[in-house]
Amino acid sequence: MSVEATAPGKVILFGEHSVVYKGPAIVLAIDKRAKVNVNRRQDKRIYFDSLDLGFAGFFEDENYIPVKGETWRGRRLEALRVSAFKTMEQLDVESGLDLIIRSEIPIAAGLGSSAAICVAIVAAVGELFDGGLSKREICDLAYEGEKVVHGTPSGVDNNISTFGGILRYERGAEMERFELEGSLPFVIGNSKRKRSTRRLVGRVRALREREPDLVDEVIDSMAEVSRKGLEALVKRDLPRLGDLMNINHGLLSSLGVSIAKLDLMVHASRGAGAYGAKLTGAGGGGCMIALSERSKMGAIQKAIQRCRGDPHVIDVSYEGVKTRRLE
Ligand code: MEV
Repeated sequence: MSVEATAPGKVILFGEHSVVYKGPAIVLAIDKRAKVNVNRRQDKRIYFDSLDLGFAGFFEDENYIPVKGETWRGRRLEALRVSAFKTMEQLDVESGLDLIIRSEIPIAAGLGSSAAICVAIVAAVGELFDGGLSKREICDLAYEGEKVVHGTPSGVDNNISTFGGILRYERGAEMERFELEGSLPFVIGNSKRKRSTRRLVGRVRALREREPDLVDEVIDSMAEVSRKGLEALVKRDLPRLGDLMNINHGLLSSLGVSIAKLDLMVHASRGAGAYGAKLTGAGGGGCMIALSERSKMGAIQKAIQRCRGDPHVIDVSYEGVKTRRLE
């Protein structure tokens, strides 16, 4: 028997970086997913075929032996091993595994690809061994993988990827999940510059150490924008949401996490009629997100292309992690 699990990527609408310290992040699962297929092996190897991510190879204990593609993908690859290993450890099983990983979510672009893959691995391995894992357990095990990639992430990415929908996520507070009627399309623009969340979170932390009072005021403002942003989202007040996205982009820029190409795409989208636009995720590259009426999305996509970005229309997805058994 083999098992397939899929899990969605995400966009952060409000609260990236500030959520590491205080206040909520408002985050949407998107209709782009990571998919994992898993089978048992007779030996003890954990085999990853992940050519979408640029590698195939196996772990024998903790040693990685490459078979195709890049020889070593550092922390990202280690995160996959940790997700599979911790799941088996929790279920008290030892087995070799064949894992095939495919993803529609661009990597290192702020769209939660690493969390979606970790969540899908945990869910697939859990189901393979009839573990009966709850969504909360899947989410917590995937966080172990996320820690390998990102250091001490807030947990927003593994939560949204597990539960789907729209989340108000705040460290130490009860998570709230929302469903809106109808679709909620956005345009995203990928700068095609890969970046490391770990490094960007570290950069904000270092700035906060140098200028604690100023940075804390910015973080307080971001937390307030998130709270107001959720009100506007629930009421579907798109012009107000747009204003808040613009303010949020300014605050993120003040922390030094935007780059010229993201700023260009943000301004081009606003010029093409978006209600608002901001970077999404850790910044430093990756993606921006623009909110507009449907009738303006074509013009916004063209504007993003003129900045040499890669535009996509995405929608919210209410489907969190999902598994199915294949004979
Ligand atoms: C990354 O998707 C979002 C950040 O806020 C980091 C985190 O929450 O761990 C930048």
